[in-house]
Amino acid sequence: MASVRDIVLVSQGNAVLREKAKKVQKIDPSLQRLIDDMTLTMREAPGVGLAAPQVNVGLRVIVAEAPRDEDDPQSGRLYAVVNPEIVKASPEMEEGEEGCLSILGWNGLVNRHVWVVVKGFDREGREFRIRARDYVARIFQHEIDHLNGILFTDHITDRKKLWKSDERPDWLDESEAADEPEVVG
Ligand code: NI
Repeated sequence: MASVRDIVLVSQGNAVLREKAKKVQKIDPSLQRLIDDMTLTMREAPGVGLAAPQVNVGLRVIVAEAPRDEDDPQSGRLYAVVNPEIVKASPEMEEGEEGCLSILGWNGLVNRHVWVVVKGFDREGREFRIRARDYVARIFQHEIDHLNGILFTDHITDRKKLWKSDERPDWLDESEAADEPEVVG
């Protein structure tokens, strides 16, 4: 049985969120347990992605689950990727709204590649590649950043593109970024 783990918050000053996570050397039952716990923790939060450092484990593991139907959080495909690597990315970038389960109460607009090709290993240790675009590509980029100690706020240089969640700016609804669902991971 999987269990929900505590999510590490930036406000707790825990260094794990700012460190480069280590490559997984061996896929064993304890790693599969970590994946199951991360999946449950992400769903409970709720969020659309989670990286192992967010549950205080400094390993290169992410989970992502983008709903296809906004009324059903588990309507999309669930990805668990061990040692994920972005091997190709679109030159084209797009701004979209993000929040982070480790930075509660803040949202912002982040520029990301429109599509990426991610290479990694599944929970059985099989190598695979995923080509993701838009929403799913944004989740992967947000989560892989976590493995490198990078937070979404690090990408925001224009202060007005970062706001408190309960003070969502009016101009946002007019912007193209409002067309895509928000990434929280
Ligand atoms: Ni995050």
